[in-house]
Amino acid sequence: MGTTRVRRNRDADWDAWPVTDYLAENYRRLHPCDIGVIHHHAAVYRRCAPGGLARTLELGAGPNLYPLMLAGAASRRIDALEPSAANLRYLRRQLDRGPDDSWEPFYALCRSLDPGLPESSAEALRPVRVVPGTVDDLVPGTYDLASMNFVAESVTEDFGEFTLFCDAFVRAVRPGGRLLAAFMERMPSYRIGAGPVWPACPVDEPALRAVFAPRTTGLRISRVAKDLTLPEYGDTGILLLTAERPLTEEPPAGPVAAPTTTTAPGGSRVTTAVAPPRRT
Ligand SMILES: C[S@@+](CC[C@H](N)C(=O)[O-])C[C@H]1O[C@@H](n2cnc3c(N)ncnc32)[C@H](O)[C@@H]1O
Repeated sequence: MGTTRVRRNRDADWDAWPVTDYLAENYRRLHPCDIGVIHHHAAVYRRCAPGGLARTLELGAGPNLYPLMLAGAASRRIDALEPSAANLRYLRRQLDRGPDDSWEPFYALCRSLDPGLPESSAEALRPVRVVPGTVDDLVPGTYDLASMNFVAESVTEDFGEFTLFCDAFVRAVRPGGRLLAAFMERMPSYRIGAGPVWPACPVDEPALRAVFAPRTTGLRISRVAKDLTLPEYGDTGILLLTAERPLTEEPPAGPVAAPTTTTAPGGSRVTTAVAPPRRT
């Protein structure tokens, strides 16, 4: 009997990320789920004074411009950290030549929800710096706010690696710094177009709470319903998260609990584990 090997982040060829197909499937038009994510994220940035955040992070930015646009009023410098050569090329072109017209409905919605945003999307993107690199390049305590959209759960099948990814995301902000994230809910490994299978780790709300509650304060998780206008990725919706990195950190409470694996509706495995926060 054969065994299925768990695919880790380094097992996928991120340089070959299918930008055109990914954009066509997800971001060439404003989908209902984007409206939900933008409303959620805009509420966070709206509470920040214009230019009130010295430096923010978009971790695994990919070719998605709307999280960068949303940060444009509050943040004086936005680091779009991204390892994939294909995504870096796309991001640089968008910043150099101005965003594709297809991003305008996204920007119109962002601006309607945050009057602090400038008239043009190109102007909102001016604070963005494209930074080649991975989660492993993050220096703890660097940012006032870190944002991550559809990344930690969409880049590995290994729940332990997912946990370490989220841990580095939390530690990237200074103590008291803000965290903002979106996760595909219960999404198994997935295809974009007819391309290869990309590794993913199905997570649900209890799994996110198990990872983030010991590492953060003010944890809030909400949900956007499954979007039937997207291709079938096997997800059950989107989970949205806000939290802060604690001002002071407690030492780990005890030994790591063994992960438990349950079967989600649709048959995908959802793993829940409790791991203590790593100290910086
Ligand atoms: C599903 S895409 C999400 C892209 C984008 N954030 C969005 O909202 O559509 C996952 C992204 O994570 C990036 N990624 C993969 N491994 C990474 C790593 N080790 N560190 C940071 N980003 C990574 C990929 O290149 C890709 O851009």
